[in-house]
Amino acid sequence: ADGSIDIPVVVNVIYKTAAENVSDARIAEQIAILNADYGGTNTDASKIPSEFSSVKAGDTKVRFHLIKTVRKSTTKTKWGTNDAMKKTSTGGINATDPTQYFNIWVVGSMGGILGYATFPESSGLWNDGVVIAAPYFGQTGATSPYNLGRTATHEVGHYLNLRHIWGDATCGSDLVADTPTQTGANYGKPTYPLMNTCGGVSRSVMFMNYMDYVDDAAMFMFSAGQKDRMQAVLTATGARKGL
Ligand code: ARG
Ligand code: ZN
Ligand code: CA
Repeated sequence: ADGSIDIPVVVNVIYKTAAENVSDARIAEQIAILNADYGGTNTDASKIPSEFSSVKAGDTKVRFHLIKTVRKSTTKTKWGTNDAMKKTSTGGINATDPTQYFNIWVVGSMGGILGYATFPESSGLWNDGVVIAAPYFGQTGATSPYNLGRTATHEVGHYLNLRHIWGDATCGSDLVADTPTQTGANYGKPTYPLMNTCGGVSRSVMFMNYMDYVDDAAMFMFSAGQKDRMQAVLTATGARKGL
């Protein structure tokens, strides 16, 4: 879209089983989901409560396009968050120039972990990018309730400098002014409105934000402040200007 940053993506698939070797179609589906969610054209954006319509991002002006897919088979059944999948010497695939490309690694399983990401402070380093466990990547054939491709939407938020909406602390800060302070993470499919009290102030919280921990079907928005924070790292002086 006009004025958007179109991020070049490399998808690195490390698989043991056929199911873990996610298809080209499923990769295309995941990229399309990212473009819808970051473009604000996701169909469930219609569910954004009117209370938050004045602070919703709409189009974040970030887009994604697939450059190439790299595949490798492995005998390893379980991965962790120690970046082993990002190096040939530990059974993984080396990143394609992370100063220029956004690397995603898809692995079979990380136990209960859906995915993890590096923040912009790791920009361009060998381990820079996002990891997603195959069952939560894309949509077709993915595992409920994380089967709408939003683990990637969430992890890419971290890659573009977003914190969890509760600031990883009780009534913590996500460094974004227009996301209401909330007591902690929300899970499942909360019912709107959901009230929290922090510092003696009761607020309706934005649990439908991609940076909360709710189910894929319960998250469908970024805020304008989050958009600004992501755009800041992509500008000429930002940590991810090379993309
Ligand atoms: N737990 C992961 C993280 O902190 C991802 C959570 C993704 N949530 C989802 N509904 N897909 O980065
Ligand atoms: Zn997270
Ligand atoms: Ca906030």
